[in-house]
Amino acid sequence: MGFRAHILGAAAGGGLPQWNCGCENCRLARQGSIPAQTQSSLAVTGNGEDWAILNASPDIRHQLTDCAALHPSGLREVPLKSVLVTNGDIDHVAGLLTLREMQPFDLFATAGIHQILAQNPIFAALNEKVVTRKTVTLGVPFRLAPGLWADLFPVPGKVPLYLEGETVETDLVGEQTVGVHLTGGGGEALYIPGCAMLNDDLRARLNGAPLVFFDGTLWRDDEMVRAGLGEKTGKRMGHISMSGPDGSIAAFAGLDVGKKIYVHMNNTNPVLNPASPERAEAEAAGWIIGQDGMEITP
Ligand code: MLT
Ligand code: MN
Ligand code: ZN
Repeated sequence: MGFRAHILGAAAGGGLPQWNCGCENCRLARQGSIPAQTQSSLAVTGNGEDWAILNASPDIRHQLTDCAALHPSGLREVPLKSVLVTNGDIDHVAGLLTLREMQPFDLFATAGIHQILAQNPIFAALNEKVVTRKTVTLGVPFRLAPGLWADLFPVPGKVPLYLEGETVETDLVGEQTVGVHLTGGGGEALYIPGCAMLNDDLRARLNGAPLVFFDGTLWRDDEMVRAGLGEKTGKRMGHISMSGPDGSIAAFAGLDVGKKIYVHMNNTNPVLNPASPERAEAEAAGWIIGQDGMEITP
């Protein structure tokens, strides 16, 4: 038994507080009245010693500093063996640039996501002789780190914001947005930080899962529009919301899932305030609101 997951960052892109945001949550977080959260990342181990990081957030330097299990054990020996990215979004790949210190690790992604990274020459800073690119085929299990196995599955989503064209399909199912099925060390988990909607395939996969980390970007689809922060709905961003008849709380209600934990929460999401009625509602429906530093064992 050695499976352990550590939430490095529970917030979506921007974090809480987001540098340019004066919304209620961001103000409360700046004052220290509600906990601040860094951007989307999860660390996982199967043997308690070797770790993989799922998504490399722009906050990774602080996240690694704050997580003792990931500190170097020798001059240049580190517990981090691999990084896996589940899409090409900035909040999930920008942290790779911080890992550019000639430290060997494996970088896992689908061919589609590797291609996006390869198109951005700045990622060549991760010397290919040191950081081994490993291409994962959907549905084919692989060893993510010693004692930890994974397989990837497609999740409805869209291409990264910086690759959006004139028209944007927000529920593409392919290699650009994936979920991760993890096993090892007596544990099993699904990690799905970005998801536009639940389709039949996803429902079947979730049903019976003992532990799920799931996209908690928004509470309601028009939350950012109502707050006067922009035009975009959750649907347009490729994210299912928590509440409402089409939301994830309702969608999971009929599924047999052990522990369900929200991650990738946008700073506007009222559940980030522990005193909010929305937080109480999500918890009453059996959800755990993820937060930085939270450790989960089977
Ligand atoms: C998202 O999750 O929708 C993206 O991270 C948004 C972004 O790239 O800013
Ligand atoms: Mn994101
Ligand atoms: Zn805000």
